[in-house]
Amino acid sequence: MTPRTLGKSGLPVSAIGLGAMGMTPDWYGQADRTESLATIDAALEAGITLIDTGDFYGSGHNEMLIGDALTGSKRDKALLSVKFGALRAPGGELVGYDARPAATKNFLAMTLKRLRTDHIDIYRPARLDPNVPIEDTIGAIADMVKAGYVRHIGLSEVGSDTLRRAHAVHPIVDLQIEYSLISRGVERDILPTLRELGIGMTAYGVLSRGLISGHWSKQRSEQEKGWRGTGPRFSGQNLDHNLQLVETLRSLAERKGVSTAQLAIAWVMAQGEDIVPLVGARTRQRLSESLGALEVQLSKEELAELSAAFPPDIAAGTRYPEHGMAHLDSEKSASE
Ligand SMILES: NC(=O)c1ccc[n+]([C@@H]2O[C@H](COP(=O)([O-])OP(=O)(O)OC[C@H]3O[C@@H](n4cnc5c(N)ncnc54)[C@H](OP(=O)(O)O)[C@@H]3O)[C@@H](O)[C@H]2O)c1
Repeated sequence: MTPRTLGKSGLPVSAIGLGAMGMTPDWYGQADRTESLATIDAALEAGITLIDTGDFYGSGHNEMLIGDALTGSKRDKALLSVKFGALRAPGGELVGYDARPAATKNFLAMTLKRLRTDHIDIYRPARLDPNVPIEDTIGAIADMVKAGYVRHIGLSEVGSDTLRRAHAVHPIVDLQIEYSLISRGVERDILPTLRELGIGMTAYGVLSRGLISGHWSKQRSEQEKGWRGTGPRFSGQNLDHNLQLVETLRSLAERKGVSTAQLAIAWVMAQGEDIVPLVGARTRQRLSESLGALEVQLSKEELAELSAAFPPDIAAGTRYPEHGMAHLDSEKSASE
């Protein structure tokens, strides 16, 4: 797999990264441990190096799973990206964020144990903690870089102002943010800022959590107990509207002889060499389909056709429920 480089950092990563969130029984419902481990193995075999997790995914479960997957020399093949700071109650509810310096170091200490490693390749706060200046959080991670526990610093779902402030304290290697044919808000202001500062983007939700993968249906939304059964884009009339969009994508994909998911991933990859999609495959079958996107070449005309068919704000419903949107620093600066 031809690698990509995250911004000006010079850090080479695989052109597609693997997001492990759905491998934990949590927001996306049940998960199959054996298949999850096999999927991580298959990803490494295929040349994927970047693996993304969060210490709060399954309240530590996801990190332990990855720790189990990366035994022996496999750890050396992977670049681990870890998000921290989200606080969860025993029942799983998200109850806030904590990115104070002492909390940051405490989260990292536990992450290293769960992942059974001596360093994290990219460490990032999952959200901006509104009570803590970003300079303090980045300063704490920079201490951990100096101490050798962290190699690079990233951010997640922050806007341009926060990016600039953070980057002034310590180079930021990448911003993790949602970007897909139906979530194009980053193009307004954040992507130009990333390019100005030389920061890469690791794009998540490139399939809009499965909604635009071609494998989603009204019936799946009705049956799903997790986040996707109730998410704003996955329910009611919003879902009907969004599934209509998928039919447009499906017909363009069929014309090109690729799958709907492959076209959606290929579109994100074609937006720039500085963008690396994180696909949330949790089975070898989905992984293999995603990897097929590497072979999809889109002409100027095809890209223009896709961009015209999926203009910004075409999706019905917000990316997150109201309380989730309130934590997105990225959305605040985008609308200013
Ligand atoms: N920074 C942040 O705030 C943030 C937020 C969310 C996620 N993330 C990270 O980004 C990663 C990806 O996010 P995501 O899982 O929401 O995004 P996604 O890749 O848009 O959606 C993944 C889901 O799509 C379905 N799917 C259908 N066809 C697929 C295919 N060919 N390949 C992969 N998945 C396919 C799968 O559901 P089924 O298995 O049910 O079919 C899978 O769980 C996460 O694992 C996590 O590491 C970061």
